[in-house]
Amino acid sequence: MNFAAVLAGGIGSRMGAELPKQYLEVGGKPILVRSVEQFACRADMACVLVLTPEDWVSYTKDLLAKYGIGSGDVPVEVLTGGATRNDTLRNAITYLEEHYALDENSVFVTHDAVRPFLTQQMIDDNIAAVEQYGACGTCIPATDTIVVSEDGTAISEIPDRSRLHQMQTPQSFRPLKLKALMDSLTPDEEAVLTDGCKIYLLKGEPVVMVPGAVTNIKITYPSDLAFAESFLKGEDA
Ligand code: CTP
Repeated sequence: MNFAAVLAGGIGSRMGAELPKQYLEVGGKPILVRSVEQFACRADMACVLVLTPEDWVSYTKDLLAKYGIGSGDVPVEVLTGGATRNDTLRNAITYLEEHYALDENSVFVTHDAVRPFLTQQMIDDNIAAVEQYGACGTCIPATDTIVVSEDGTAISEIPDRSRLHQMQTPQSFRPLKLKALMDSLTPDEEAVLTDGCKIYLLKGEPVVMVPGAVTNIKITYPSDLAFAESFLKGEDA
C-alpha cells in the first residue's frame, strides 16, 4: 500500500504573510490545495495525510472540503504537525502505524505542502524508486556554483558542480524502516537533521535520486509567489 504525507506544519516566517504561506493562493487556488490534490487524485494511494499547525487543523478541513478533496475514494486526514519538520514527519508515521497495517512493502511518499508544482511523474518515480531501492529524494542538478563557508565569511571549498544536486520533495521511504531509523537517532544526530533522506545517510542506508524539475519550486519568499503566478499563466497559455 502507498501512503502520502503533505507536510504543512510550518508558519512561513520568511514569507511574512498574515497566513502561513501554504494557505496563500497562486492562480486563484491555495498552495496547500494544489499540493494535496496531486496525491488525492491517485487511485494507488491508500490514504493522504495533511499535517498542519494545531490552530489550522479545522481551517484546513474546511478548505479541503470546499475544494471537494477527500470526498473521493482516497481518504484525506488532517492532523496536527510538530514543532519541527521532522516532528511533523514523525506524527505522520505514528498515525499510519496506529491506523494501518504497515508492512515491508508499504511506500510512504512525503511532500512539502509549499511545492505545489510537483508532477504525477515525480510521484510515480518516487514510488518506483522506493520499490527498487528503499528510499529516494527528488533532485535536480545544481546550476549555480555552490561554495562552502565554514565561518560564514571566507569560502573554504568550491565543490565540483557536476557532483552537486539540489534536493526537492517528494522524498519517499519504507515507513517502518524510516520509523526504526528515527527511533535509533542519538541526540547529536537529531541536532543535525534536515530531512528524512538525511536520516538514512546518517545511518549508512542507501537513498537514490529521482528527477525533479526547476519548476518544482519551494515557495519561501514573496518573490516565489510572483514566479508561481507567472508559471501558472504560462501553463494556461
Ligand atoms: N513544515 C512542517 N512542520 C514544521 C515546519 C515546517 O510540516 N514544524 C513544513 C512546511 O509547512 C513546509 C515544509 O515543511 O511545507 C518546508 O519548510 P519551510 O519552507 O521551511 O516552511 P516554514 O517552516 O513554514 O517556513 P519558514 O522557515 O520561513 O518559517
